[in-house]
Amino acid sequence: MTRIIAFFNQKGGTAKTTSTLNAGAALAERGKRVLLIDLDPQASLTMAVGVDVAALDQSVYDLLLEPDLTIAELIVPTTLRDIQLVPSHPDLAAAELELINVPERERQLDYRLRAADLSAYDYVLIDAPPALNILSVNILVATGELVIPIEPHPLSLMVLRRLFETITRVKRLNPRLTLHGFLPTKVHANSRLAADMIETLREQFPDLALLPAIPLSVKSAESAAELTSILEYMPRSTVSAAYRQVAEWIETHAPAELATAARSDAR
Ligand SMILES: Nc1ncnc2c1ncn2[C@@H]1O[C@H](COP(=O)(O)OP(=O)(O)OP(=O)(O)O)[C@@H](O)[C@H]1O
Ligand SMILES: [Mg+2]
Repeated sequence: MTRIIAFFNQKGGTAKTTSTLNAGAALAERGKRVLLIDLDPQASLTMAVGVDVAALDQSVYDLLLEPDLTIAELIVPTTLRDIQLVPSHPDLAAAELELINVPERERQLDYRLRAADLSAYDYVLIDAPPALNILSVNILVATGELVIPIEPHPLSLMVLRRLFETITRVKRLNPRLTLHGFLPTKVHANSRLAADMIETLREQFPDLALLPAIPLSVKSAESAAELTSILEYMPRSTVSAAYRQVAEWIETHAPAELATAARSDAR
């Protein structure tokens, strides 16, 4: 069974893209077959794995708007060992408007994923945009599992209410949706802010897990500049070790049912 996992948070800069890439690299290191899907018009993931956006004939934009197109036709190789990608393109920003007239516009990604033969992959990891729009709703409808990367920042907790409201609303469209929980990212070891955030998450969402935290490190941005994962760039760094733990966590933990998350939201 192919597992579909989205890294999702409408807040910008919470390390969604970094985590999709490096969790993917860590799963691949464990011998898993990984497909990444970039659903962000910024195309950061696409560029970070060495794909030339300007040279693309087709992208996930075409996938969403052309019902006859299959995922297989869009897959491109990446600079990451054993990892393939469905690329994004800045055109995807227009999909928001263009999907308005498409019947069942929230289900387009889901339909394409259901129609695809994904048996060549153990994991499909989706990088979400920093928004709660039709693209992100397509992700919530199509994915099996959610991971919420969250960085220690005063605004991080404030956006969660709306996030859970949206998740609860799409439940009707995707009863399969499950939640792994929060992935604390950019965590400075001695930071009061990080410790407070983690404590508040434990209090407010006692039924949701906290995945192994990712330490703050400039190496993370350096590896992105090298168009590779931090696992290849600095295999022995603390960030690499943390993403290996995240991969192990994903492989060994069952995500929580959505009812649990909804209960958390009600608190
Ligand atoms: N562990 C880390 N330590 C330090 N910096 C990091 C770490 N992880 C990510 N970053 C940096 O934080 C910034 C945001 O990361 P990233 O692009 O992955 O977030 P994002 O949630 O995908 O952003 P967006 O919402 O714009 O899509 C980038 O500059 C990235 O290099
Ligand atoms: Mg991103």
